[in-house]
Amino acid sequence: MKFTLGVGACLVALAAASPTARGSKKSPLSLVIHNDGTNGTFSSTIASDKISMHVGQQYGTKLMYKGEDLVKNATGAYASYAGRYFDLNYTSAAIYSETQDMLDIGFTAKEGVVHFVLKTGLDGFYSYFVNKALGVQGEFRTLYRLDPGLFPNGRTYLKDEPLPLFSDILSGTNVQDETWQRPDGTYITKYDWSLFMRESDFYGVYGDKFGCWLINPGKDYYNGDQLKQELSLHRESQTNDTVLLNMLHGTHFQAAFSNVIPDGKVFGPWLVYLNDGSVKDAVKRNKAEEKAWPYEWFTDSLYQSRGSISGKLMLDTGKPAAGAAIFLGEPGRTIAQGTTFQYTTYADSKGNFKIEDVRTEQPWTIQAWSNGGEIGGVTTIFQAGNYTLTEGKNLDVGKLTWKTQGRTDIWQIGDYDRKSLGFAYGGAPYTHGLVDNCPANLTYTIGTNSAKDWCFGKSSKGTWSVVFDIESLPSGNSSAVLSLSIAGFSGSGTAIGGSGSALEIVLNGNALSNHATPIASDPSLYRSGTTAGEWHYYEFVVPRSWLVAGTNKLDLTTNKTATRWRGIMWDMVKMEWS
Ligand SMILES: *[C@@H]1O[C@H](CO)[C@@H](O)[C@H](O)[C@H]1NC(C)=O
Ligand SMILES: *[C@@H]1O[C@H](CO)[C@@H](O)[C@H](O)[C@H]1NC(C)=O
Ligand SMILES: *[C@@H]1O[C@H](CO)[C@@H](O)[C@H](O)[C@H]1NC(C)=O
Ligand SMILES: *[C@@H]1O[C@H](CO)[C@@H](O)[C@H](O)[C@H]1NC(C)=O
Ligand SMILES: *[C@@H]1O[C@H](CO)[C@@H](O)[C@H](O)[C@H]1NC(C)=O
Ligand SMILES: *[C@@H]1O[C@H](CO)[C@@H](O)[C@H](O)[C@H]1NC(C)=O
Ligand SMILES: *[C@@H]1O[C@H](CO)[C@@H](O)[C@H](O)[C@H]1NC(C)=O
Ligand SMILES: *[C@@H]1O[C@H](CO)[C@@H](O)[C@H](O)[C@H]1NC(C)=O
Repeated sequence: MKFTLGVGACLVALAAASPTARGSKKSPLSLVIHNDGTNGTFSSTIASDKISMHVGQQYGTKLMYKGEDLVKNATGAYASYAGRYFDLNYTSAAIYSETQDMLDIGFTAKEGVVHFVLKTGLDGFYSYFVNKALGVQGEFRTLYRLDPGLFPNGRTYLKDEPLPLFSDILSGTNVQDETWQRPDGTYITKYDWSLFMRESDFYGVYGDKFGCWLINPGKDYYNGDQLKQELSLHRESQTNDTVLLNMLHGTHFQAAFSNVIPDGKVFGPWLVYLNDGSVKDAVKRNKAEEKAWPYEWFTDSLYQSRGSISGKLMLDTGKPAAGAAIFLGEPGRTIAQGTTFQYTTYADSKGNFKIEDVRTEQPWTIQAWSNGGEIGGVTTIFQAGNYTLTEGKNLDVGKLTWKTQGRTDIWQIGDYDRKSLGFAYGGAPYTHGLVDNCPANLTYTIGTNSAKDWCFGKSSKGTWSVVFDIESLPSGNSSAVLSLSIAGFSGSGTAIGGSGSALEIVLNGNALSNHATPIASDPSLYRSGTTAGEWHYYEFVVPRSWLVAGTNKLDLTTNKTATRWRGIMWDMVKMEWS
């Protein structure tokens, strides 16, 4: 870990009035302002020994590398929020810091400052954003829209293949949001290029001669938890541009939500790395960047001040919380966090965990939930909080005890892990419309069927029945508890329970309807998601008198016609004695 604070730890704008060019003589790094905005549109050029880019009011264009313009007629580099009509507009540029071989240039918009950091010998540039006035935001991102001729292919940690052709989009039939059907029945959608943000190493676009890669180690400034998914790159469906995306505060897979983005929050730095199109070289460069993170050269004192936290998480049953998903952030719903910073890891088989390079500026809450496997039946969430870290030190929180639900299993379909893994199509590669393959009606017999006989999603009208035998009711008067966990929900109104909801529940002829609260729809099921969306968990108390010794039947019925490709993505269904 590095704690170099550098000279003058905070970033300081050098000149009140924007300089028109960099002072020192011999460096190849420069900022030249052509028009400072007072008599027309802001216009400038930044350059190093490797690259140059024209930066105008909204867009970075003419990105020159090895004698070629990588942008040409495409839109170029820009930042935007709340959809495409809110591109940041730069009104000035200034040099924020300068060393022998580095130049940090900030472009000021009313929302904040977009920085480009040039270094001698660097094939590309680093970039970061310092928020001033984004306020409450859903989507905020930077984009690099490049010449489609030079960048026909995409690479993420999940796939490496050509992008869809613009001509196929133009001749296809639009069937929903950014989704087209080819005459042969197959689909084209940008959402097939999605990924789990915190699983991702890096991603980029490339061709025979050039590659452009988004290398973003240390993903603490991205919103959400382990299950945060985002779009990575795509073919622009209106213009043919090849788009490399950086969803800094992303909402493509979430129910409508927003966070306050505090004044001064720094997103990044990330690296926009250019090369000759070699994926192998980009892999190597990514490894080097991961090793170098947190970046020593980024002399921001809050960024540099980091410690670590470790502990051992045990279930109250005495077993270790093997493989548990661990989240470090604020209290509350983890997928919806994005105001400050978020860290994630998984416990090992003995329940031990450690998170390194955690910022020290705020107190931290630990949350944990089952990630399946040995503890895939635990449905409670662990939370402990308010840990304060010290720069350069590890905080060992010792042994933490996780209170489990303390009930006796009757049966369970699928692991509780907030994901559809184990079910048919669960965890399949991002593909549009797979839920069409799930049955309308299904009978699942406990003891005979296994998770793969259940399907990852339920969209069509019909009933899925769970048939189960109870040898004899336990002595005493304990009732049963039915738990339903859904990995995602795309629809309107109430998801589970109650007449008129997406899923009505009837046990041996008795309707369960104690959960009438509508939940917000998330787009995962109809945007190529197969693993997760926004997770929701429900428990129903089942009176003992409803159950019989012998054969019982639980019916999960959809009677509302859902819009095609919308509905429920499953995580787990479970019954226990209380
Ligand atoms: C005003 O505009 C002209 C032409 O675009 C440009 O050459 C000049 O540098 C600008 N002046 C300032 C102060 O930006
Ligand atoms: C860019 O646009 C110009 C003007 O519309 C056109 O003449 C040129 O062929 C285009 N270049 C590319 C590479 O698409
Ligand atoms: C930036 O300027 C463009 C063009 O003038 C305008 O359409 C856009 O709304 C502006 N962005 C914001 C956030 O105001
Ligand atoms: C899209 O861009 C590619 C690469 O430049 C080009 O070959 C193709 O003709 C373009 N497609 C359309 C429909 O303009
Ligand atoms: C967290 O700890 C700080 C100081 O250690 C204290 O001021 C604050 O009240 C605590 N917050 C909670 C929610 O316990
Ligand atoms: C599902 O079952 C219902 C009730 O038996 C039936 O009306 C419906 O046609 C079935 N759907 C399909 C697609 O088989
Ligand atoms: C269950 O039995 C206990 C002890 O006999 C009693 O106190 C309790 O009220 C009963 N609960 C219900 C729900 O009948
Ligand atoms: C929906 O399904 C449930 C369970 O099968 C049934 O009892 C109910 O009458 C149905 N409701 C409608 C409106 O069809």
